[in-house]
Amino acid sequence: MNKPKIVVTRKWPTAIEEKLKGLYDVQLNPTDTSMTVNELKTAMKTADALLTTVTDPITAEILGVVGKTVKIVGNFGVGYNNIDIKAAKENNVLVTNTPGVLTDCTADIAMLLLLTSARRGSEGDRMVRQQQWTGWGPTHLLGNKVTGKTLGLIGFGRIGQAMAKKAHHGFDMNIIYYTPRSPAQEVINDLQATRCDTLEELLSTADFVSIHCPGGEANRHLIDEQALLVMQPTAHLINTARGDIVDSKALIKALENNWIAGAGLDVFEGEPDIDPGFLKLDNVSLLPHLGSATHETRMAMGNRVLDNINAFFAGEEPGDRVA
Ligand code: DGY
Repeated sequence: MNKPKIVVTRKWPTAIEEKLKGLYDVQLNPTDTSMTVNELKTAMKTADALLTTVTDPITAEILGVVGKTVKIVGNFGVGYNNIDIKAAKENNVLVTNTPGVLTDCTADIAMLLLLTSARRGSEGDRMVRQQQWTGWGPTHLLGNKVTGKTLGLIGFGRIGQAMAKKAHHGFDMNIIYYTPRSPAQEVINDLQATRCDTLEELLSTADFVSIHCPGGEANRHLIDEQALLVMQPTAHLINTARGDIVDSKALIKALENNWIAGAGLDVFEGEPDIDPGFLKLDNVSLLPHLGSATHETRMAMGNRVLDNINAFFAGEEPGDRVA
């Protein structure tokens, strides 16, 4: 029997690519340049599975291409707002993601940004590199204390809870959260976490606000000018979820006018293009979407995609089906 044909849109960890080669008729992308719309459409018409990632916009146009042969899109990423899920369902294309395996590493990056924003780590690093540091001073580069402060989590799923665990048990932080879901009582007890009934309540109370809700239309610009005005002037905003949840222009205005003390961002609207307004500001720490970027996690993500497509081609239900 012919092996199923798989197209992989980006470069993946070598060990995962080797496994794919052993199991499937696979087209890899050693150059790691993003595929064009036409290339994606061709892949949809020639392969049985398309293995995408969060940088590939898999639109209705691509999913609905005439002559489509792809039956499953295996997304390398927990977020799947890059895929038009409605169009996938309409076109009978099954979609999977990679939940669970990047929880801790993404929460680690959120904690890193929280600490670096509070303690002005990026600013200090720049000062040293630019040879502008003239020595220790009693009032030099003072930041905000982290230990014992209140952390507000927007979204309280796996990553939000992992962040809360690190913050509460590691830094003695008081945890508040805002989510439409009901977290397990044992999680709430362990973290001594308090639900906020409104976003405003969370924003006005927290010393640090960390975003962990999904991206996409429903949460687009959830943090806008109004929301930023509600935050305390000593507060910091951390985003490791999706760039479009925060209105960049509004955040730049808030940081320029000291409506809030700082921000730590791992994701951006329209990334990798970044609003140049951020680059001029000292009170924002910027990372290039590093949330899941560890050897261990990227391997685990690749294995998770493999598990999903292996199940599919064995006639079973993939574990991480989202459409
Ligand atoms: C994801 O998996 O959604 C992440 O953003 C990739 O790091």
